[in-house]
Amino acid sequence: MSEIELAIESVGVRGDGVAYHDGKPVYVPFAAPGDRVRARLSAAKGETRGELVEVLTAGSRAAPVCAHFGRCGGCALQHLSDGAYAAAKLGWLEGALAQHGFANVDIAPLQRLAPGTRRRACLALARDGEAVAGFHGRMSHAIVDMRECHVLHPALFALVEPLRRLAAALLPKKGTVAASLTLGDAGVDVLLEVPKVPGLEALEALARFAAEQDLARLSWRAGHAFAPVAQRRPVRAVFAGVAVDLPADAFLQASSEADEALGALVLDAVDEPRRIADLYAGVGTFSFALARRAPVHAVEGDAEAARALAQSAARANLADRVTVERRDLARRPLSAEELARFDAVVFDPPRTGAAPQSRALAQSTVPRVVAVSCNPATFARDARILADGGYALAHIAPVDSFVWSPHLELVARFERR
Ligand SMILES: C[S@@+](CC[C@H](N)C(=O)[O-])C[C@H]1O[C@@H](n2cnc3c(N)ncnc32)[C@H](O)[C@@H]1O
Repeated sequence: MSEIELAIESVGVRGDGVAYHDGKPVYVPFAAPGDRVRARLSAAKGETRGELVEVLTAGSRAAPVCAHFGRCGGCALQHLSDGAYAAAKLGWLEGALAQHGFANVDIAPLQRLAPGTRRRACLALARDGEAVAGFHGRMSHAIVDMRECHVLHPALFALVEPLRRLAAALLPKKGTVAASLTLGDAGVDVLLEVPKVPGLEALEALARFAAEQDLARLSWRAGHAFAPVAQRRPVRAVFAGVAVDLPADAFLQASSEADEALGALVLDAVDEPRRIADLYAGVGTFSFALARRAPVHAVEGDAEAARALAQSAARANLADRVTVERRDLARRPLSAEELARFDAVVFDPPRTGAAPQSRALAQSTVPRVVAVSCNPATFARDARILADGGYALAHIAPVDSFVWSPHLELVARFERR
């Protein structure tokens, strides 16, 4: 394949440098804006990619902090200077908004969160001769054996070596297991996705592992079969002073710092409502803080999350203040009639966004809608639906919950015109 010189202009949504050749974009992993590079071109899946051969002139670069950077799929942006990093993340948001016809939107500066705070991670454990534990490689199924990590909370990183030893002891040759780690208030919850139901010996080894590592809980899942091996302490998170028992593998924001940052922005955006709907409520990250302002109706599709949220509300004597409904909002969004009893609606859907719920909101009379999103592309699509229904996109606050990754979290406020 041919090698050419390219001038990198921006950073694409996967974190690759973007240059233009014959008027078409070329995506060059690990290139930074302002770089002049030599790259080897190839075509894949309808786009031109450039493998970085040499940086001829360095642009807005920084030395990556992690020795695994470049191979590990966990981080994509450690090679950028601080200014280029923030500009890249804001650029994705502006690009997504422009694609849906928004210009001159009021966007706050990127709110930065500290690295080393990530409280959820899914690691891969494998044996192929040696046992390995780490994230998958960049655009690859290979596992990068993690010896350092600058995004994980130290309590999660401390489990990497013990998990590697566990894989060496328990996995058959060529075996792979996914380990979901969640740091709750009383320690780490580990869920192992295993290929088959573990036998007695494996269960005993897992129970020993849970005790040795002082885990709060250890469970396994094999297809639809699931069982806790050891429940040593309650696995809980606390939101606005209310403790919620977390189901295994429950959704939580990336860090408790992200909870605080997003929660404050959501509270600010709803202002002083009389009745709030919290859609895609999860286990209540925002519900209990919102309930300090006004009664909240929380709607969540996952049965266990909805149950955990309802139980915590009851235990905290808040059952009147936080009502909970389990409902699939993709198939059965709250209708304009149902929405009429709320004067503020918060919605925080998964990465695919909330097109059906946005269409129902667009027909509603709710004065204020607050969107929380982890995907600027689906956010911008849903924002267009709301705007076409008569909402003004008043403000967006982007939050860097996933440091060095190609992800961006945001809170946006819409007001009915
Ligand atoms: C991004 S999380 C946000 C949860 C919560 N707001 C938080 O901050 O922790 C999205 C939530 O939407 C729920 N969800 C996904 N698809 C859904 C659907 N079709 N209907 C209702 N809830 C859904 C997930 O179970 C998850 O709890």
